[in-house]
Amino acid sequence: MSFTIAIDGPAAAGKGTVARAVAAHFGFAHLDTGLLYRAVGARVLAGAEAVVAARALRPGDLEADGLRTPQVAQAASRVATDPGVRAALVAFQRQFARRPGGAVLDGRDIGTVICPGAEAKLYVTASAETRAERRFLELRDKGEDVTRAAVLADVIARDERDMTRADAPLKPASDAVMIDTSDLSIDEAVRAAIAAVEARR
Ligand code: C5P
Repeated sequence: MSFTIAIDGPAAAGKGTVARAVAAHFGFAHLDTGLLYRAVGARVLAGAEAVVAARALRPGDLEADGLRTPQVAQAASRVATDPGVRAALVAFQRQFARRPGGAVLDGRDIGTVICPGAEAKLYVTASAETRAERRFLELRDKGEDVTRAAVLADVIARDERDMTRADAPLKPASDAVMIDTSDLSIDEAVRAAIAAVEARR
């Protein structure tokens, strides 16, 4: 039997951390679906056409270096508005979600579009300022040359684009459990997520 956990939310809300911890806790496979859009965005920055790049994407491409930069994040959120790009990435995500051992997928449209029948759905969010501060510290620790103001502007621009696009906009599924991580430690957020999933088992 497969069991799918869908985790959605805006940029830098802690989805990735929560998704990895939840997957480890239940022994499920984990797919960070943002990497699909980042890999396509990176190809477009290198001159490729977006839909062609999305159709040619292979699982190994998700391990490429340099997908975590702000430039690639912006390119990802631009290609993510293209319905042709989104359509090209659906089958891979749905197949991953049906893994017999269980799967955790995190992204923007997992509970609403990719896996509307997921057994558990979480919407992980936090204030824009909290998210920008976390992302700023993360990028600075990696040695990236960034300012707080630029990171906040990037987060707000991506939120706006992700929430207002016509195809698969970011929004909580009606049956998602909301987890606001603004005032939670990583541990507390992970415990809240595991408890929400346990309630659906
Ligand atoms: O999650 P991450 O920040 O890596 O995602 C990068 C961009 O990819 C997002 O800003 C969003 O535009 C897009 N994305 C999406 N749908 C997903 C995952 C990511 O549109 N399921």
